[in-house]
Amino acid sequence: MMEDASLITASLSQLRKREGAAYTKVTIKPVELKEQLHYQFAYYTGTKVTHQNVLPSEAAEVLTALMEETFRQALFCTPEADYQVLISKKYKVSILTKSPTKSADDLMLAHNRKKAYILEEGTPVPFLIELGIMNEEGKVLARKYDKFKQINRFLEMVEDVLPHLPQDRALTIVDFGCGKSYLTFALYHYLAIKSRRTLNIVGLDLKADVIEHCSMLAKNLNYSKLKFLVGDIADYDELDQVDMVVTLHACDTATDAALEKAVRWDASVILSVPCCQHELFTQVNNDVMEPMLSHGILKERFSALATDGIRAKLLDVMGYRTQLLEFIDMEHTPKNILIRAVKGSAGDREQLWREYTVFRDFLSASPYLEKACGDLLPSE
Ligand SMILES: C[S@@+](CC[C@H](N)C(=O)[O-])C[C@H]1O[C@@H](n2cnc3c(N)ncnc32)[C@H](O)[C@@H]1O
Repeated sequence: MMEDASLITASLSQLRKREGAAYTKVTIKPVELKEQLHYQFAYYTGTKVTHQNVLPSEAAEVLTALMEETFRQALFCTPEADYQVLISKKYKVSILTKSPTKSADDLMLAHNRKKAYILEEGTPVPFLIELGIMNEEGKVLARKYDKFKQINRFLEMVEDVLPHLPQDRALTIVDFGCGKSYLTFALYHYLAIKSRRTLNIVGLDLKADVIEHCSMLAKNLNYSKLKFLVGDIADYDELDQVDMVVTLHACDTATDAALEKAVRWDASVILSVPCCQHELFTQVNNDVMEPMLSHGILKERFSALATDGIRAKLLDVMGYRTQLLEFIDMEHTPKNILIRAVKGSAGDREQLWREYTVFRDFLSASPYLEKACGDLLPSE
C-alpha cells in the first residue's frame, strides 16, 4: 500500500518491550518532498516528536524493522479498508480487515499537503540574520535564496537521521572541515534551540582566520555549546565519544580521515559530502576499462564515483548501513553526493568484504580508508 501510494495514515503501538524503548508510538503519513512522494515516520517520545522521511520503496523496510523489533500492533488506513495488524509475543501475525474510516478525498488531501521548510521565511532566525541570509524581519535576501534552500535541505537530512541518535542523553557532534560553518550553525539552531536537545558541537578546520570568525559569531549568538577549533582532522583527539560526525566538502582524503574518526568513535550517524576525490585517479588501472580510463575527464569522474562506492562499501563492512543521496549544493558544484551512514548491519560482513575486495582489485586500487582502518576490517 506504500508502493502503490494508497496509504493515508498509519500508527504503530503496543510496545513489545516497555523498558528501554526509544519511542512509544510511531505514526506514518504521506508527504511530498522535492515533488516526490515520501512517507513521514513520526517517532513519539514523551512530549518530543522526531521525523524520518523515506521514499515509498524504502518505507516497507523501515516499517518491517519497527514491527519486528518494537511494536505489536499497527493500524493502516486506506480508502478501501482499515487493516489492523496484530503480532503476538511469539510473532504470530493476524490481520483484521475493517470498513474504511478514511475516504479517497482524504487520500487526495494527504498527497497534496506540501511539507513546509524547517526554517521558514518570515520568521526571523538569529543565525540566518547574523550570516546575512535573512534581514531582521525574516525576509530572505534574494541572492541568498539558494543558500537558504540548501540549509533547509541539509536540515531535512538531519531530521531524517534523528531517530538513529541516542535519545536519552546529551549529544556530541563534530563537523570536520567546517569552513564558514553555515551548516554547523544551522545544525546547532535546529538541534539545541528548535528541538531542545542538550548537545555539544565542535567545528574543526585548518584555517585559523575562519575559525576565529566562526567563534566570534557563536559568541554573538550566545551558542555556548558550539566550539570552533583550528586543527587537522587526522590529528584531532580531544573527544572519546562522538554521536554524529558531519563532514561537508572536506577535500580529497580529508573525508576519509573524518570517516575513520567516526568509525573509531562508533558514531551512530555519519553525514559526509565528499569533495575533490583525487586519490583513486592516480591508482585506477584496468585494461577492460581502457576505452573510458584513457579519457582524462571520464577517468576523473569515474574515480570520484568509485571512491564513494568504496567508502560506502567499507562503511557497510564496518557496521553501518550506508546510502548515497543527492545533496544539492550551490557553492561548490551543482550536485553532490551525500554519504549517509547509520549504525546497523548492512548484511553478511564476509560477503560485503568479498564484494569490496573484488571491486578494489578490479581497479588495482589501494584506498586510504582501507589502509587507515586495516585493524577494523576482516583479514584477506
Ligand atoms: C570546501 S570547504 C567546506 C566548508 C564547509 N564544510 C561547507 O560545506 O561549506 C572545505 C574546508 O575543509 C577544510 N579542510 C580541508 N582539509 C582539512 C583537514 N585535513 N583538516 C581540517 N580541515 C580541513 C578546509 O580548510 C576548508 O575550510
